[in-house]
Amino acid sequence: MKALLLAGGLGTRLRPLTEHLPKPMALVGNRPWLEHLVLNYREQGIREFVIAVKHYRERIQSRLGDGARFGVSIQYAVEKELLGTAGAIKNAEPLLGERFLVVNADIIHRFDFAAALRFHESRRGLATLLLTEVEDPSPYGVVECEPDGRIRSFVEKPKREEAPSNRINAGVYIMEREALKHIPAGRVVSIEKETFPLLVRSENGIYGYPIDGYWMDMGTTARYRQLHWDVLDRRFPLALGGKEIRDRIWIGEGVQVGQGVLFMPPVLIGDNTTIGDRSIVGPYTVVGDSCRIGSGVRISHTILWERCKVRGGAQLHQCIFGSGMRVGPHILHEAVCNRTLEVRG
Ligand code: GDD
Ligand code: MG
Repeated sequence: MKALLLAGGLGTRLRPLTEHLPKPMALVGNRPWLEHLVLNYREQGIREFVIAVKHYRERIQSRLGDGARFGVSIQYAVEKELLGTAGAIKNAEPLLGERFLVVNADIIHRFDFAAALRFHESRRGLATLLLTEVEDPSPYGVVECEPDGRIRSFVEKPKREEAPSNRINAGVYIMEREALKHIPAGRVVSIEKETFPLLVRSENGIYGYPIDGYWMDMGTTARYRQLHWDVLDRRFPLALGGKEIRDRIWIGEGVQVGQGVLFMPPVLIGDNTTIGDRSIVGPYTVVGDSCRIGSGVRISHTILWERCKVRGGAQLHQCIFGSGMRVGPHILHEAVCNRTLEVRG
């Protein structure tokens, strides 16, 4: 079965990190999330992928290519204009089979695919939506189900007080090709606002399958940050590069650590990074590959992508910096930047 990964959206809520990058290419634990996603699904036996792309698609295509590097095959369905979540699926129709998986590529999750498939086969609906529970369902698609799992209603992003339940669309669907007949071609269609409400009323209907375990939509900086803390605390068991030298201190290959450096767990340091004398790194800190951290630097609760340069004496707290940032000897709190900027002290 093929998996269609939806990765064409604008990612506005994760700006400025996603100003020139598709959201699913944001680094999670020093690697683009989309790579983790492909590898996680490969573990579940999926070998063929279609990625629905639009914005900054070359960033995805140059990195993931035809998938050979990951032991899978990857095809691309390119939209000339953004077609919305259902429009993107319809656009990919020529590349899809009788039954396929659709995944919002910005969600972090893991589930038992074989069990979900058995559920889907037993219900014979046009689609099975994976469901999870959250405290505040208002930023998501909210569903109500019959006892056998048939979805009675689907409402996208309701007001909190109007949400019929806390059960939400986890953003992963097993779909029958038949469902695509209900999506008009060549125009913008939202699966959440148009297609699901329509399919709920169709003869075969659509079903919801609750999943347990970790689930996160990385679509805002607050959630993106929390996701990293959860990864470092091993609440989500993402494969991390480097060696765990002590409890929750992972150090990559070729890392040079100066005199008197203190790592406070949890910390992840990428490959070929240099850390200057007397710096204190952590807790809750990810430093990307090939970064240069000066002497006497203090970093905590911060995520640095690859190739960042932080001058001696800088103090970074609760920051997120995109690739190649240069930071002067400044005290920065809650800064989120992706442009190279020399902040002078
Ligand atoms: N190719 C393509 N074309 N991809 C798109 C388009 C499009 O027009 N629009 C969105 N996407 C991709 C995004 O890149 C993202 O990976 C995914 O589809 C979902 O879009 P988001 O913009 O992140 O949606 P959301 O988080 O507000 O809500 C969706 O996800 C929730 C779960 O995280 C909805 O499906 C909700 O119902 C759901 O609960
Ligand atoms: Mg999202």
